[in-house]
Amino acid sequence: MTNNTIGLIAGSGFESLGFVVASRSPTKTPYGAPSTPVLAMTVGASQIACIARHGEDHAIPPHAVNYRANIWSLYQHGVRRCVAINAVGAIDASFSPGTLAVPDQLIDYTWGRQHTFFDGDGKLEHIEFSEPLDPELRGRIADAILAAGGTVRGGTYGVTQGPRLETAAEIDRLERDGCHMVGMTALPEAALAREIGMAYGICAIAVNFAAGRHPDGKPIHADLERHTRRGMGTARAVLEALVRDLAG
Ligand code: HPA
Repeated sequence: MTNNTIGLIAGSGFESLGFVVASRSPTKTPYGAPSTPVLAMTVGASQIACIARHGEDHAIPPHAVNYRANIWSLYQHGVRRCVAINAVGAIDASFSPGTLAVPDQLIDYTWGRQHTFFDGDGKLEHIEFSEPLDPELRGRIADAILAAGGTVRGGTYGVTQGPRLETAAEIDRLERDGCHMVGMTALPEAALAREIGMAYGICAIAVNFAAGRHPDGKPIHADLERHTRRGMGTARAVLEALVRDLAG
């Protein structure tokens, strides 16, 4: 793979994207083992480098993902532009489960994660992070969503610690803070990508109404499978359009 390889970090629902894994490259990193080997996946006419964030059997919880090893492995495989697929809960009333968003801002509510490559062992850089998600990649993801027949919206993604879901009061607080969606994995992933010098953008899929937000008062997991299936179907088409665009 070259320094132009397109990277993908796929979260919950990875299997339902349904791409063929052509080969696997186990990678050793100074930070320990990544969630999976780097999986060479065929998307249209291209091969991209993919990591399944929660492992191939979906057993790694968000706070235990080795984000540093994942980003480091993809970088070693030549990835300089990386798209992440993140399942989120919808906070904003205009964001419907089953649909996609391209978040433009992040707020960090996580704690205790290994969140930097600048760990006091030599080099230190305070990365610019005013725009935490690469503007050009965001535009390309938005174009790919339109090409796949979806509608595009942005928004602020609040990153919680998990693995438990939030209380309704926590979601009220996130909303007051300006969050439109909530998930558990965008950080430290986005910051590590910036630290290492990789453009990184997110295609978020709303798979549920956030806690206390269901219009009919149903539990959070109501219809989760249906929303995930619908969102992942669109995400697959989005990835195909995006890879065609980025590789072209
Ligand atoms: N909260 C946090 N993370 C999530 C959610 C949620 O409601 N849905 C999917 N990931």
